[in-house]
Amino acid sequence: MQLPTDIADRLRTLDQPSIVQAWHSLDDQGQQRLLQQMRSIEWSLVSECLSLSKPGDPVPQAASLSWLHQARSPQALLMGSSFNHVLPCDALRTGRHALSRGAIGAILLAGGQGTRLRAHGPKGCYPIGPVSKASLYEILCGKLLAVARRYGRDVPLAVMTSCATDDDTRQYFENHSFFGLNSHNVFFFCQQEVPVLHATDKQFMLETPDHIAMAPDGHGGMLTSLAHRGGLDWFVSKGVEQLVSFQVDNPLIEPLSAEFLGYHLLSKAEMTTQVVRKENPRERVGVIVERDRTFQIVEYSDLPHSIADERLSNGCLRFSCGSIAVHCFDISFMIRMSHNRSALPFHVVHKAVPLLLSNGTIQVPENPNALKFERFIFDLLPQAERVSVVEVDRNNCFAPLKNPLGSQSDGPEHVQRSMLAKARAMMESAGVHVDDGIPIEIDCAHILDVDDIPHFIAPGTRMTAPTVVGRSIPISITVSETFHKTQGN
Ligand code: UD1
Repeated sequence: MQLPTDIADRLRTLDQPSIVQAWHSLDDQGQQRLLQQMRSIEWSLVSECLSLSKPGDPVPQAASLSWLHQARSPQALLMGSSFNHVLPCDALRTGRHALSRGAIGAILLAGGQGTRLRAHGPKGCYPIGPVSKASLYEILCGKLLAVARRYGRDVPLAVMTSCATDDDTRQYFENHSFFGLNSHNVFFFCQQEVPVLHATDKQFMLETPDHIAMAPDGHGGMLTSLAHRGGLDWFVSKGVEQLVSFQVDNPLIEPLSAEFLGYHLLSKAEMTTQVVRKENPRERVGVIVERDRTFQIVEYSDLPHSIADERLSNGCLRFSCGSIAVHCFDISFMIRMSHNRSALPFHVVHKAVPLLLSNGTIQVPENPNALKFERFIFDLLPQAERVSVVEVDRNNCFAPLKNPLGSQSDGPEHVQRSMLAKARAMMESAGVHVDDGIPIEIDCAHILDVDDIPHFIAPGTRMTAPTVVGRSIPISITVSETFHKTQGN
């Protein structure tokens, strides 16, 4: 079959002869499949990406960040401290009021391929609960459920998937009855994909002989995909006024903290973001910087080590506000930005992508060999009229799952240790003693904060067995009861 002229013209304009060659080596069925894929590609995005990286260009280096020498680190609005005349008690009251009016919606970003974790299936299905083995999805949805129980209003949730995670994620939610959430208040949408390029010759890569390798367009793809698939209208129809987005990888997160929402509302910000103090200069988190009175996040991979390592005279890191990727947006700001095609630029990311060799075998490279194109949702920060930066406690809010078991940091064992430490601290605040070495987990669907603990366990209790607090019966008892019943039968 001849390559249809419109596609041939496109490939010529985009200087992609390798796909034309691949086409000619395919049989009829293969050509049909490749054609079908090429017909579904969003070519305007491809042109935009290719304009960032032409054949013959060197492998992209981090964009010039010489301006960082003049930039400042913002003074964060410390949670629990008064700042800019916003008192914590006022923030708390305002946030609670917004939650009880049903004015808050949530967006869960779960389109990433989770390559670093090397687990099968969507990252959200990873069984991270140290005692319960609850998945990330169950824990995160549980937090929304607990808020709905406390305030008497559901929090509408949009879940962003990608081609790699869409079917499995939807099925997983179905299989688990949406973790107790009202399925009418859950909206799935799939983000777009863009082709992956060889780093050297900037040609499309093939995943199989008749399929171009594609990758999700970054979590910034959320803006256009949510709007195009009717998600923003859906939120508006539910009375949502503010949207909080968060990543699937962090089970400690407190995205719907009433105090955080209150700071956002009282400071009349169009966008508010949560930060923690960076633990060390090389921690893999983006940093918030202030440049000419606007805020932006500089990604860790772009931040030169010499600048990341800089310290102030008091010994603190010069850029110390690390983003934990929890952002609150005024929905009218989101709507305005969704009409602005240039709101979110593409970033070129250098990654290792399996390569199909001419003999049909797949080579998994050790070093980055390919260019992916991603938009970052946090690039909306400089576009916002008003921005707030709220510092949260790392021990309560940040333990991301990025790497496989046995890694030096951000692996399941590190995340579980943080979950256990947070649960133990909460129990102590509630006057419950936990014996040394006893793993205690909090059931996020039933315990929103320390105030909920006495509903399940009385102050003064001593805990001596692994327990998921918030499940009506401690699991140690459930196990022995089941055992007795089985014996009795
Ligand atoms: C990310 C942030 C970083 C932040 C850190 C906190 C980016 C570019 N950087 O780094 O600033 O300090 O988390 O842990 O996000 N995702 C999608 N679609 C995509 C790509 C990613 O939904 O196309 C989602 C993933 O499912 C995940 C999240 O975005 O939930 C983060 O992606 P990841 O690539 O793991 O970012 P990091 O490099 O860890």
